[in-house]
Amino acid sequence: MNNFNFCSPTEFIFGKGRENECGDYVRKYGGSKVLIHHGGKSAIKSGLLDRVKNALEEKGIAFCELGGVQPNPRDTLVYKGIELARSEKVDFILAVGGGSVIDSAKAIAIGALYEGDFWDFYSGKHAEKALPVGTVLTIAAAGSEGSGDSVITRTEGMLKRGTGSDVMRPVFSIMNPELTQTLPAYQTACGAADIMAHVFERYFTNTTEVEITDRLCEAVLCTMIRETPRVIADPNNYEARANIMWAGTVAHTNIVGVGRDQDWNSHNIEHELSALYDCAHGAGLAVIMPAWMEFVHRHNVLRFCQMATRVFGCAMDYETPENTAAAGIKAFRHFLHDIGMPINFAELGAKEEDIPKLVEKLGLLDGHTGGFVSLCSEDIAEIYRIAARASL
Ligand code: NZQ
Ligand code: ZN
Repeated sequence: MNNFNFCSPTEFIFGKGRENECGDYVRKYGGSKVLIHHGGKSAIKSGLLDRVKNALEEKGIAFCELGGVQPNPRDTLVYKGIELARSEKVDFILAVGGGSVIDSAKAIAIGALYEGDFWDFYSGKHAEKALPVGTVLTIAAAGSEGSGDSVITRTEGMLKRGTGSDVMRPVFSIMNPELTQTLPAYQTACGAADIMAHVFERYFTNTTEVEITDRLCEAVLCTMIRETPRVIADPNNYEARANIMWAGTVAHTNIVGVGRDQDWNSHNIEHELSALYDCAHGAGLAVIMPAWMEFVHRHNVLRFCQMATRVFGCAMDYETPENTAAAGIKAFRHFLHDIGMPINFAELGAKEEDIPKLVEKLGLLDGHTGGFVSLCSEDIAEIYRIAARASL
């Protein structure tokens, strides 16, 4: 196991009706003038936004509001948010929504305290300070409610880039699984695919003797395999929603990834798809991650056998372990298909002829070659080709 630091300062407030307590937590973490940041319309339609505003008013907390965050959040709204935060002298940002809203809130939080262009942080600069961010989470997916990361798309050139710093970890995250019951089945499944991908990015490692994190990873994956079909069949299954919601956070605070090298190539390869086609990040991962597995599995066949046997219950073929590895990858792709995810370019709305463009844009990234298997541009093109042509 490698040396590590683990910093997860977020207070998680979990369970039914907990959004009504958001005024208490904004106060607790020093907020007196809040920017409420939200998305398209789901939080308005469900009445959540009104409940949040009432909860702030009850505690005498002033607020202003900026809605309109779209999935794959854009820099243009971040600039508006930074301006608003400064002109309104905001001292706290409350994100009400999913990963896109939270990531946009984090970008505003670092941008408001920085004299230069906030995009500098998405081009390699490390954020050292931020306004405090709290969240009321409405979808189990990105894990941004417990992570120090933010991913923003620059409208000019549609460049999707991320940044990470512990100062961006939310001070609190309110997680009421009931709020996720209004999600369309497709979005629920996209979230599940993303959660599983966050675990796999960590699971496939060259670091040895990491039994504790291996087992934690497998627990999250097995939970997702059990619970996701239950919420697809019954969107109002609170207990299954609750398990998935907490799994999404556990998958991405990094508690399952400490002390080990991690890969993250699938995420980088996917981000070009969601930037170019504006598809859901989880759907893009459902297409990319099994293709990446097929391409890299020979690097460590036994690790893929471990996944196949412990996570997907495949039988071990001791004579030809490669068969077991292949069966595990196949089982993963079948699972994704069964929960309603696309498994190839056509189903995602992507085009094989765009592969050179995707590879070229990804090439602009420096240093993201993958911690499990290092990939060159031609390897990445091959992974896109496998993804383009995949079938069950
Ligand atoms: O805008 P509204 O109307 O709320 O609709 C959203 C959106 O269309 C809808 N939705 C959310 N909660 C709902 C709901 N609809 C009905 N009922 C609810 N309760 O769902 C759609 C997707 O929302 P979004 O916030 O985009 O989803 P997600 O949480 O998957 O976030 C995706 C973004 O997070 C980034 C992705 O790249 C993508 O941009 N990621 C962020 C990470 C991080 N910060 O740590 C890590 C991830 O790997 C990921 O890259
Ligand atoms: Zn992700």
